[in-house]
Amino acid sequence: MFPRDFAWGAGTSAYQIEGGWQADGKGPSIWDTFCHEKGGIFGNQNGDVTCNSYELWEKDLECIQQLGLTHYRLSLSWARLLPDGTTRNVNQKGVQYYNRVIDDLLACNVSPMVTLYHFDLPQAIQNLGGWKSPGVATLFDSYSKFCFQTFGDRVKLWITINEPHVCARLGHEVGIHAPGLKEKGTAAYLVGHNMLRAHAMAWHSYNSEYRATQKGAVSLALNSDWFEPLDPLRHEDVASAERDLAFTLGWFAWPVFITGDYPELMRSAIETQSKMMGYSGNWRLPRFLKEDPPILGTADFFALNYYTSRKVKSGGCCGQMLSMKRDLDAEEVLDPSWPISGMSWLAVVPHGLRKLLKYIKDVFNNPTIYITENGFAQVGPLQIEDVERCKFYRSTISEVVKAIEEDGVNVRGYFAWSLMDNFEWADGFSVRFGLFHVDFSGAELSRTIYQSGREYSKIISKYKSAQSGCQGFLDDDY
Ligand code: GAL
Repeated sequence: MFPRDFAWGAGTSAYQIEGGWQADGKGPSIWDTFCHEKGGIFGNQNGDVTCNSYELWEKDLECIQQLGLTHYRLSLSWARLLPDGTTRNVNQKGVQYYNRVIDDLLACNVSPMVTLYHFDLPQAIQNLGGWKSPGVATLFDSYSKFCFQTFGDRVKLWITINEPHVCARLGHEVGIHAPGLKEKGTAAYLVGHNMLRAHAMAWHSYNSEYRATQKGAVSLALNSDWFEPLDPLRHEDVASAERDLAFTLGWFAWPVFITGDYPELMRSAIETQSKMMGYSGNWRLPRFLKEDPPILGTADFFALNYYTSRKVKSGGCCGQMLSMKRDLDAEEVLDPSWPISGMSWLAVVPHGLRKLLKYIKDVFNNPTIYITENGFAQVGPLQIEDVERCKFYRSTISEVVKAIEEDGVNVRGYFAWSLMDNFEWADGFSVRFGLFHVDFSGAELSRTIYQSGREYSKIISKYKSAQSGCQGFLDDDY
């Protein structure tokens, strides 16, 4: 049975849905720049207009109501609120926009979960060195305080940074996300470090200045696959899977939830590789300093983004250059029995979510968990009757039920990704994650519910009737 007040949500992010990239005084973000530079994105597409939620917010609200969501996860565009990234210059039109969104949600009895940073750094801050520069943490803290001050009377669930792992690795090591850097084996660790410092500063600000009056909760959203050894009897494969968990989830979860520092496994793997390449061991993964804000304990709940799983075996690496892949020294493979969704990386493994939830309970001291993203992609010919995605949501949610009932994991919410089709980063509009279809070829950008949207809505309404004592929840179908 799902606990009382379980959050049933869906998510979006500012750059992926808003459009209005220059509207009403918004400043440019690194995603505006990255897309406009051409070459990096499927079909040279961009988020200039996308779902145009900046002008069509009422349509999104209708979708939210049609699904019967109790919660909606959105992100704020830092550069829409503070065009040059600093609080010296506030864009009141941006403030009005988000005030309206938040007020409308609350008027419809939907609680907002607000992410402060979902990949879209103001370009002005990138020009100062971006996430590689230690000073970004103070700027992020000021921006966060501005948001707590402005919206915190109504917003009770905050995410500081979405997926620091993805920002660091895809944006600064692999280079397929903004700002497109490919500084292998170095920049991502520095970026991750500054993101943790920024997150911790914002959490401490909330804790000391806003918590008493606003009574909300703050965390950061961590993405991880479930990693398991290809051959559980092979010591090297077991160690490789552990290393993969440490480099993905542990990188950020250890400092915040258990030790205040990076996992020992990660530190030693990086030191070993540095030494093998003739560098000093202690060079690439920074240490937290006395003057840094304490990192341990800076999350009021565990926010998990889960999409898929991998089998892991030892080795697989790789050239004579420093790189994160070399540090990780593990090879990820797919189990041939796992079906693939529209995207090649997205193998459908609902039971991996249950295992990951249990792992988080055991390793990170049984935290309250919100699944802040989980979803299934469609690629190719449009199917409004998206039967496979319906199956995906049914089986994933039944794994969450098992995690709660059989493993005793404290899951408090589930957010489907995404409310509607949107700009899927490097894949542009070629990939559709929505519970609503968006017609990007028509001027109206009309939203049409997929069968999976109806399915999700049925699940939510069953839950609501079970809460009001009308019937058992999910007993027959799951
Ligand atoms: C996450 C990201 C989302 C969405 C999703 C689907 O990494 O936070 O914005 O794009 O992946 O790929």
